[in-house]
Amino acid sequence: MLEVNNLKKYFHISKNQLLKAVDGVSFSVEKGKTLGLVGESGCGKTTVGRTIIRLYDADGGKVLFKGKEIHKLNKSQYKEFTKEMQMIFQDPYSSLNPRKTVEAIVGEGLDIHKLYSSKEERRKRIYELLDMVGLNKEHANRFPHEFSGGQRQRIGIARALSVNPEFIVCDEAISALDVSIQAQIINLLINLQKELNLTYLFIAHDLSMVRYISDEVAVMYLGKIVEKTDSEDLFLNPMHPYTKGLIRAVPMPDPESERNRVHDLLAGEVPSPLNPPEGCRFYKRCSFRKEICNLQEPTLKAIGNNHLVACHMVHSLSW
Ligand SMILES: Nc1ncnc2c1ncn2[C@@H]1O[C@H](COP(=O)(O)OP(=O)(O)OP(=O)(O)O)[C@@H](O)[C@H]1O
Ligand SMILES: [Mg+2]
Repeated sequence: MLEVNNLKKYFHISKNQLLKAVDGVSFSVEKGKTLGLVGESGCGKTTVGRTIIRLYDADGGKVLFKGKEIHKLNKSQYKEFTKEMQMIFQDPYSSLNPRKTVEAIVGEGLDIHKLYSSKEERRKRIYELLDMVGLNKEHANRFPHEFSGGQRQRIGIARALSVNPEFIVCDEAISALDVSIQAQIINLLINLQKELNLTYLFIAHDLSMVRYISDEVAVMYLGKIVEKTDSEDLFLNPMHPYTKGLIRAVPMPDPESERNRVHDLLAGEVPSPLNPPEGCRFYKRCSFRKEICNLQEPTLKAIGNNHLVACHMVHSLSW
């Protein structure tokens, strides 16, 4: 359904400064499946999402959606595409217009794409959408500030669903919420996926929920994918030192395991994408680095079934 090929997105910060936010990212997502995209803040996840839905032009590579190159669509093809692919945003507080009622927010897509033939039909569809996300018609005339964070995210989901999309980019759809509410929203997204045969790109910096919703997970570091494999495999058998560090950074529910957890694999901070290191981008923070890692950038290589890793030392690591 979606194929992303060597995608690049650079920001011109000043006359001679180029920030390589996304620097050669490739992946694909099959219909009805979820790809999780994870990594620390600033590694380029949102930029990938925004470039895929063409909120940004790409500086290289291509994005194919159902075989069509989306950065080459003309105006009317693009309008059609915006119906098929929707995005749910990070912050449920700023992504809903505070001056509009829920009915107006959810109905906007219906208006733009003329998806009803009468006022009645429009209203009926809005009530149906609210019902699908666990809200009800009493909520339709209220404003976003009258809702909790979780409810606002439900409004955002109803808005995305209004145009019957096939693909949804969920950008940190749950990060701003309490853990118990996160689980509710994840379950809602999983149920909607089954019911409507939706395909998701699920972006998150916290791995704990990603595991439950994703079929596959890609790990990003400083504008590149460093590891990609099936969701279970990633958690049971992480290969890249960065992935290992990310997984160990997730707190354990059991106090005994939590005490024994190694916390120090992710020392230091992500370097600036303005001047990324020449060799492996993770070099400075890696406990397993050798000279070659500083000299030569590792490429993504297949290690086992559907498991890709970009690390020179992958065969000599012992954990
Ligand atoms: N519009 C922009 N102009 C300039 N630089 C940008 C812009 N958007 C993002 N960046 C930079 O690109 C890099 C990637 O940012 P991005 O928002 O994609 O990261 P992210 O992985 O989504 O982070 P987070 O987890 O904090 O949401 C960062 O260094 C960021 O500062
Ligand atoms: Mg982001």
